[in-house]
Amino acid sequence: MTSFNQKQEQLWVDDIPLATIAQNAGTPVYVYSASAFTRNLKEFSSAVQGIDHLIAYSVKANSNLAILTLLAKLGAGADVVSGGELERALQAGIAPHNIVFSGVGKSKEEMQAALSANHGTGICQFNVESEPELIALSEVATAMGKIAPVALRINPDVTAGGHEKISTGKAENKFGIDINLAREVYRNVRDLPGVEVTGVDMHIGSQINSLTPFEMAMDKILELIKALRFDGHQINTYDLGGGLGIHYHDDSDIPPLPSAYGAMVTKKLKGKGLKAIFEPGRAIAGNAGVLLAKVKYIKSGGARNFLILDAAMNDLIRPALYGAHHEINPVNAKSNHEKMTYDIVGPVCETGDTFAVMREMPKMQQGDLVAISSAGAYGAVQSSEYNTRPLIPEVLVSAKQYAVIRKRPTIKDILEREDVPSWV
Ligand code: LLP
Repeated sequence: MTSFNQKQEQLWVDDIPLATIAQNAGTPVYVYSASAFTRNLKEFSSAVQGIDHLIAYSVKANSNLAILTLLAKLGAGADVVSGGELERALQAGIAPHNIVFSGVGKSKEEMQAALSANHGTGICQFNVESEPELIALSEVATAMGKIAPVALRINPDVTAGGHEKISTGKAENKFGIDINLAREVYRNVRDLPGVEVTGVDMHIGSQINSLTPFEMAMDKILELIKALRFDGHQINTYDLGGGLGIHYHDDSDIPPLPSAYGAMVTKKLKGKGLKAIFEPGRAIAGNAGVLLAKVKYIKSGGARNFLILDAAMNDLIRPALYGAHHEINPVNAKSNHEKMTYDIVGPVCETGDTFAVMREMPKMQQGDLVAISSAGAYGAVQSSEYNTRPLIPEVLVSAKQYAVIRKRPTIKDILEREDVPSWV
């Protein structure tokens, strides 16, 4: 089931034709489906209902306040990696005791903010990635007269993830503490004031399309948990991170469904006395959004046919950065049944500003709309104003209603943030 469907030869998002949104909000624009977010979250949580768990949605995937508010109302927690994301999660009404704080470089100010959340009761847990960070957290918490709940992020040394840039669980990656040093570092936590062990954390990569790396990592971490308990630590939580892939296109390896992932995890954790924390990002947001763009020009006659869109790499950088494949479909299916092969590009002055190479699709015309699929995760959040192109708006659709949930700034707004000192 999907929220983006063909009806009356038009592409719709739930009960609204995408063309209506283009007309009213302009293009390029991100369009999200509330029903898709809801369905994805429910599907994930029912997949793991057999075990005590928390779903801490990974805010970095799509951090719009409206999206976070929607997920908060459905009971989601949050995985945050900065003071800014923490602020968003709190403003959206996510309960602080359902927030975990991840990331390799937390500042002391960010630690303070997380310890002060909820009138001082603080967040669920800090996922600590190194000994120096642990010492900093101990200092901050002690100065505030608080005890920070800590899980150490352990690097289990497994290969996972759809692309080397988003693989995080190998020993040579910057993330986590080497699994061979884990027992020693846990001993140090016990000796430090202001910090208390709650559990163990891992996150091995993103867009993982097989269960095997998760299973391998879990086996290693569960062994470690046994050893840590033997050493006298109270290990109550096991944060498995995120990483479950989504279906981007038919020719790629199709990732396991949340139900298969959930069944595997449930089997491994049942009866182990652990609360599982999950940090899915892409699995919740990825297929809940499209990037809606317009064909500005069609350049033909040379080596290639170029479809030049009004969207560019600054709006959706995944193809340029990771060589990622996103399906691109005409919004109006009626336009033509004749097929053409296009390089689909944006207006930014770089050859890398390419969404697709030699892509076969129905013959397009200037002014036609296209929907770039699976753009709900790591789309808007990774956009920039490169080439002084204003950030594009985001629209949320719920059944028959829709709203702009992030406005398109004007060029004036952009320039007003800058200053020219008198001595220039
Ligand atoms: N937890 C931690 C600690 C993470 O670093 C991440 C993602 C997640 C959870 C969520 O992972 P997910 O379930 O979404 O795979 N920009 C890249 C993806 C980077 C992922 C970074 N960390 C992309 O566009 O593919």
